[in-house]
Amino acid sequence: MRKVILTGDRPTGKLHIGHYAGSLKRRVELQNSGSFDDIFIMIADAQALTDNADNPDKIRDNIIEVALDYLSCGLDPDISTLFIQSQIPELCELSFYYMNLVTVSRLQRNPTVKSEIQMRDFQTSIPVGFFTYPISQAADITLFKGTVVPVGEDQLPMLEQTKEIVRKFNATYGDVLIEPEILLPDNKACLRLPGTDGKAKMSKSLGNCIYLSDTEEDVSKKIMSMYTDPNHIRVQDPGQVEGNTVFTYLDAFCRPEHFAEYLPDYTCLDELKDHYRRGGLGDIKMKRFLNSVMQEELSPIRARRKEYEKNIPAVYDILKKGCEKAQAVGRETIKEVKEAMKINYFDDEALIAAQSKKYAE
Ligand code: TRP
Repeated sequence: MRKVILTGDRPTGKLHIGHYAGSLKRRVELQNSGSFDDIFIMIADAQALTDNADNPDKIRDNIIEVALDYLSCGLDPDISTLFIQSQIPELCELSFYYMNLVTVSRLQRNPTVKSEIQMRDFQTSIPVGFFTYPISQAADITLFKGTVVPVGEDQLPMLEQTKEIVRKFNATYGDVLIEPEILLPDNKACLRLPGTDGKAKMSKSLGNCIYLSDTEEDVSKKIMSMYTDPNHIRVQDPGQVEGNTVFTYLDAFCRPEHFAEYLPDYTCLDELKDHYRRGGLGDIKMKRFLNSVMQEELSPIRARRKEYEKNIPAVYDILKKGCEKAQAVGRETIKEVKEAMKINYFDDEALIAAQSKKYAE
């Protein structure tokens, strides 16, 4: 079976290190592993519009930001197809047919949709498009016959829903669609990176994000003012590691070789944690260490971004070519879908012949 990656992000803002740890970094590794037949990375602008209908400029302006973030992380347009959701009309077509296979009550039970509805305070005025975006997401994945979907943990319910739609479709119309598998980060700290203020989620409105496009100074300022253990007041006090953002970030990003390079008094993270717990390790020292680790991770990303920023039309061109390739693949799947659903009237000579025969009798 072909191995195909399909994944994407809503262009509602620049991408931050939560996106990077949760999925982007993995995508680049998978891309470079060379073990996939096709890789599709989608900027989900149509999905972003489901709760931003009144703010099209926000979505429009963030297309290029997300594209630059992708490229700067090392997604290579010669290997991975980067494209924009709204430019593939076959996605709408497929969603429309999937709508018949999903019940309202099933959508109401989708935990991600439920919590997003609460977060957005829609109450009773939920846009239908927003409510049904899990269906459109199933179309995103299956139009490209995605087998592996690297995303964050919050997307699990979407994958469940997608699998159900695939099973229902195949059982009703015949085996056309492929059931995808979700790929979550192996590292627990990467599953959900907290904001720099220690809050559970990084979010633009909370101002607690480190962006991939932040300058070196921005990053170090944010790290030096990060939330740690509020009860760790004097250096000699014992400190708490759990829930301490600096340690969570170190769990996500630091490797043993970073110690030799930046903090040779310790050989590994466990030693550093033990010292913090015992007391005698100051916050500044670990923050400086985290800063070195993060700068090492982010500086090649920043440098690549600078290069791509010099030629913005070329980035739009990459997206345009990506859309063309994606649409060609989408057309093939839609053809198979329509045939399976018996709505391929004009391609079906047997149908026309049978109907003529009926009327000739
Ligand atoms: N829902 C995803 C997010 O909020 C974006 C997305 C849209 C997506 N379609 C997708 C992710 C298909 C994976 C596969 O980030």
